[in-house]
Amino acid sequence: MLASEIASQMAEHEKFGGVVPELASRNHLVYAPRLLERATRSAKIDIVDVDAFAATSGPGLASSLMIGASIAKGLAIGFGKPYLGINHLEGHLLSPFFNGDFQIKPNISLIVSGGHTMSIQVVGLGDYRLIGRTVDDAAGEAFDKVAKLLGLGYPGGPEIEKHARRGDATRFNLPRSMLDSENFSFSGLKTAVRYLLPKLRGDFLADLCASFQQAIVDVLVRKTIAAAKRYDVDLITVSGGVSCNEELRRQLRDACDHEGFRFKSAEPWLCTDNAAMIAFAASLRLDAGFESKVTEEIDPNLALA
Ligand code: KG4
Ligand code: ZN
Repeated sequence: MLASEIASQMAEHEKFGGVVPELASRNHLVYAPRLLERATRSAKIDIVDVDAFAATSGPGLASSLMIGASIAKGLAIGFGKPYLGINHLEGHLLSPFFNGDFQIKPNISLIVSGGHTMSIQVVGLGDYRLIGRTVDDAAGEAFDKVAKLLGLGYPGGPEIEKHARRGDATRFNLPRSMLDSENFSFSGLKTAVRYLLPKLRGDFLADLCASFQQAIVDVLVRKTIAAAKRYDVDLITVSGGVSCNEELRRQLRDACDHEGFRFKSAEPWLCTDNAAMIAFAASLRLDAGFESKVTEEIDPNLALA
């Protein structure tokens, strides 16, 4: 990796409690060209020397995807280089392999982000089979919604994790839903917190954050280990914004050690959304002979498997 630049809009969206699509796309239009310039400058390369141009083609907000894809396509056409439209979830899924030998080994991949919670059997690059997904809220969405209920900031995951550090995770017994299914469900957990809140007095914030976080971690760890056993895979990977969570990383790693699985997670800075993981997926795909047509449209609901 020669350079990685991120223009975060989090501070601008925080006052609205979530991402405002129109504001996001307007900002992309302003920031993206500046980012390109900054990236080529810090990589000390001339843009004419770039071998290929990639952008996220979905899933995501149409008005934001369109801006990145249009810029990458324009550059690819202008410089006569390949264009690669990359699935955002493939970016997350491959990110644990971004250090090491870059060999994509068969694994059970847990993707936990603000928009998605998925368990996937990875056979090899581009060969992904869906095992389970959330039937309602994504794990990160549950963190964000519960943080909002508790009057904490956005995004909620890091806020809850911070308070949970000094809390007792056994104080509140919150539901672990759909444990016997390959799918996930987190909206019942959020509702349980909502009904519990008015009954609580005194200092409960840290204990509630810790108990809530542990309910999510329990479900994710248990289902991921079960999937690895069922599909006879010896490697487990985790990615996506929620995989920044230290408690999730620690407990998943411990469970893997205990059950005899190898474990790989992305470095924390690669867990939340970034362009480096998209470039990494694109370079692996380019080496494997994949390329996208510049006429390929973005798809807000693009499926991974
Ligand atoms: O992958 P990501 O950056 O964006 C999406 O593709 O959605 O994930 C963002 C999500 C947010 O819901 C955020 O609350 C959650 O990841 N998140 C965390 C932590 N850091 C970010 N959740 C739990 N613990 C964290 N430390
Ligand atoms: Zn993401």
